[in-house]
Amino acid sequence: MRYLIVNSSQLLMMNGPDRARHGKEMASVGLVREGAVLIAEGRILAAGLRDLVQAHELAPKAHLIDADGKIIIPGFVDSHTHPVFAGPRLKDFEARLQGKTYADIAAEGGGILSTVNGVRRASLNSLTESLRHRAGHFLECGTTTIEAKSGYGLDLENEIKMLRAIKSVNEAGPLELVATFLGAHALPGEMKHDREGYIKRVCEEMIPAVAKEKLAVFIDVFCEKGFFTVEESQRIFQAAAKVGLRPKIHAEQLTRSASLPMALKAGAVSADHLDCLDDSDLALLSQAGTVAALVPGSNYFLNKPYPPARRLIDAGAAVALATDFNPGSCPCWDMRMMMSLACTQMRLTPEEVLVAATINGAAALGLEKTHGSIEPGKAADLVCCEAEDYRELPYYFGAPQVAWTMKRGVMAHSSREYRL
Ligand code: NIG
Ligand code: FE
Repeated sequence: MRYLIVNSSQLLMMNGPDRARHGKEMASVGLVREGAVLIAEGRILAAGLRDLVQAHELAPKAHLIDADGKIIIPGFVDSHTHPVFAGPRLKDFEARLQGKTYADIAAEGGGILSTVNGVRRASLNSLTESLRHRAGHFLECGTTTIEAKSGYGLDLENEIKMLRAIKSVNEAGPLELVATFLGAHALPGEMKHDREGYIKRVCEEMIPAVAKEKLAVFIDVFCEKGFFTVEESQRIFQAAAKVGLRPKIHAEQLTRSASLPMALKAGAVSADHLDCLDDSDLALLSQAGTVAALVPGSNYFLNKPYPPARRLIDAGAAVALATDFNPGSCPCWDMRMMMSLACTQMRLTPEEVLVAATINGAAALGLEKTHGSIEPGKAADLVCCEAEDYRELPYYFGAPQVAWTMKRGVMAHSSREYRL
């Protein structure tokens, strides 16, 4: 199917190098007024000034889509989510409202381990169904690609079950899911007196099994006091490297454990959270190819200080924004909420948050050559928002703004007022 999208008020191309945008580069959104986009077979053929796009030889045969004076942006790429779980954690929520911390609740056997109980009891079918339902929510909010972690199974059978659910929802489409194996999310209850045994299981049983079935692209570790140490994380990365899983890390979230320098050395594609950085970390990230993926929804929900995003960008780092959607620290799948928090709480500009939510999100998943901007050859992942000016995206918050979402040239969602 060919489409020609016309009559946008603003087209945000995010054009530029096929890599993460660092520091000042994050100010550039590639704004074209009344721009047009030509799409064929799920990819972008041409984009930019309307007259140039309309002059393309294939434009006359394309089906017209009227953007109706709204804005067109690349689909959001949410590079950090934990979307496979059986139910919400309302007890934890209420305990935190009474003053308990995330760490207190985890130490008392709530937290991640309570979600593990739910996932272990759930069938593959029910996990797949609930994930499919959640995939619809992401599309409604303009997200066209997510990273999806395992990490609530914590044994071979249940980690594989989670990853199979991710695989089948990805294959069914239209939301694209990129899988990450997070066997080292917490020590399961039955292994609490045998850390070494569990790390061995992750390295020697789970990682090879995940690789054999090609169930994940990335490896992740929750490197944190009370969870996994820097040395353990490093061992896990080494085992994963042998089978080609690329590293990501939950780094310096609740405390600083110096996991970031280790992860950068291991070639992490992204380092995520980064709430407790010191000056040496900032200096390292300013020089690194690793994307700093910040998840302000979890700071908001856990009522914790926000990471130093402004200083990271000023130092020249590449910052991405992600939801961290999960039942414990961020039950929110809306990237626009993250953009709003990044502006109001971390003093990023509207341009920076848009870059962070699109091309830099793609780079945090190694997808910068194919996703995250509206340029010829890239996937036709586009969102039309009920706004005339892109700054309205982080400005309005708490209510939907997406008119329609297109994934690989297919209409994946359209709002009630805007049936296509
Ligand atoms: O990113 N930090 C570890 N993992 C998640 C929380 C997972 C959970 O609480 O279920 C996070 O915040
Ligand atoms: Fe997380």
